[in-house]
Order: sequence, then C-alpha cells, then structure tokens
Amino acid sequence: MILELFVSLSERLPVFRRWAWKRWYQHLAGYAVADWSFMNYGFELLENHPRLELAPADEDDRYCIQLYHHVASAIPLADQKVLEVGSGRGGGASFVKRYLQPKTMTGVDFSAKAVTFCQQRHVVDGLLFRQGDAEALPFEDASVDVVLNVESSHCYGSMPAFLQQVVRVLQPGGHFLFTDFRTVADIAVLQEQLLQCGLTMVSETTITPNVLRALEADSERKQKLIGRNIHGWLTRTFQQFAGVKGSKVYDCFRDGSFVYKSYVLRK
Ligand SMILES: C[S@@+](CC[C@H](N)C(=O)[O-])C[C@H]1O[C@@H](n2cnc3c(N)ncnc32)[C@H](O)[C@@H]1O
Repeated sequence: MILELFVSLSERLPVFRRWAWKRWYQHLAGYAVADWSFMNYGFELLENHPRLELAPADEDDRYCIQLYHHVASAIPLADQKVLEVGSGRGGGASFVKRYLQPKTMTGVDFSAKAVTFCQQRHVVDGLLFRQGDAEALPFEDASVDVVLNVESSHCYGSMPAFLQQVVRVLQPGGHFLFTDFRTVADIAVLQEQLLQCGLTMVSETTITPNVLRALEADSERKQKLIGRNIHGWLTRTFQQFAGVKGSKVYDCFRDGSFVYKSYVLRK
C-alpha cells in the first residue's frame, strides 16, 4: 500500500520524487556499515559465460559488482577519465578503478554523508568522491571521457536535465554507460528521452532476466545483512528496498511491471 502510494506520487510529482529519494539516501548513508558498499539489484549471466574473476574480499558483492561489470566493460576504460553519477556507498566506483583501471575515477552523489563514507571506506589511488547533483554536475564542459550511471536516474527530478548535463560534460567521442529500471509504462518515455538527448545510441539491452536471477541468488545474503544491522519496523522497508525474494519489488521484476535496461551512448 505504502509502496504503491510512493510509486504513484513519484510518477506524478517529480519534486516529491527528488525530495523523497534525497531524504532516504541521506538516511541510509548514516549507517556506518563497512561491509555495505552497494545499493543495486545486481546482475547474473544467464548462459555459460566465464565467471568474472574477483578477489576473495569482493566475492560477497559479486552480483552488485557484475551489474557494474556488465555496464562499465562495454568499452575499454584504460586511460579514460570516468565520472560516476550517483555513486552511493562507493563500491562500484572502487571496483571500476581497481579492475578496469581508468586513468581517474570520480564518484559523485548528492548525499554528502555518502560521500564522506566513501572517502573513508574506499581509499584507492586515482579514486575520488565529491558531492554533486546529477541535474547540475560540478564539472567543466567536455571534461570527462565516460559518464557511468548505475540504478540512480529513477530518483532524479528531471531525466532530460540530467542528460543535458551528461552531454555537456562529455568530450566529443566520449561515452555514456547507463543502466536503470522503470515501470513498464515509463520505458517508452526513457527510450524517447535517450533518443532525443543529442547522443548516438550504440546499444540497448533488456537485462530484467539477469537482474531477477541476481535478486534470487543474492536474497539470502541481503536478508542476513539486514538482520544484522536493521531492527524493528524498518526491517520490512529495507527488505522491500533490497528487493529480497517475496518483496513487492522482486514481484514487480518477476511479473514484468518493472523493466531493467542497459545502454551505451556516444557523443
Ligand atoms: C540505488 S542507489 C545506487 C548507488 C550505486 N550506483 C550502486 O549501484 O550501488 C542510487 C544513488 O543515486 C543517488 N542520487 C539520487 N539522486 C541523485 C542526484 N540528483 N544527484 C546525485 N546523486 C543522486 C542516491 O543518493 C544514491 O546513492
């Protein structure tokens, strides 16, 4: 009931959507849980692809990391200046810097608390975190080679305003590596926004089955993480947010009312 009300208000009132997500993520950033570095629904390969090699310390986050790997490995990142918008608790930016070795990696998030957490938790050469808004990025025109955006854009007040910023900060020839979900009714709107934004669409993939498989495989780990850190009435909210098996979010991906997409675009 509360989730339906939230989705309906978010769809109709962009100002409410922006405000509500900002409050929620500021709240989440207050949890100083060192082993919680990701906030996405994850990705699992469906066929017999070789398994991504990960250091033992990264294994717990395998599914969330695989979502980053799916999106960020679409083009070679070595020697590129990469900007991640909506970097959250920083695990994705850290993975990209350590494994895909761009020249620099900067994570931006509008939660100042999340940025402070990341600066203390992820200390890696060439990896920076700073506070900033997707709809007014604190970067010069044509100053980055790649913009990466993972499961963050559904929170924004204006997707076209964000896309304008992406086009502005990218160098000519630079890439926008993007993944997120929408309700099935809103997918056509997203598609049109991407086609109209001034970038060239290189590829588009529906990854809902991969995300669903990851939600299933990662559900037990998330339940344990929630059990260790969250108590009382907030437990149910966190289970919904994490999309554990049996949650409304999980059901929405399963019955097709939520669709998860990934895209590569070029300036
Ligand atoms: C679902 S989390 C995903 C975080 C991270 N990309 C990951 O996969 O773990 C969405 C993130 O987007 C950030 N965010 C939402 N709206 C934003 C905005 N307007 N500008 C910058 N960051 C924003 C939130 O603070 C949150 O950290």
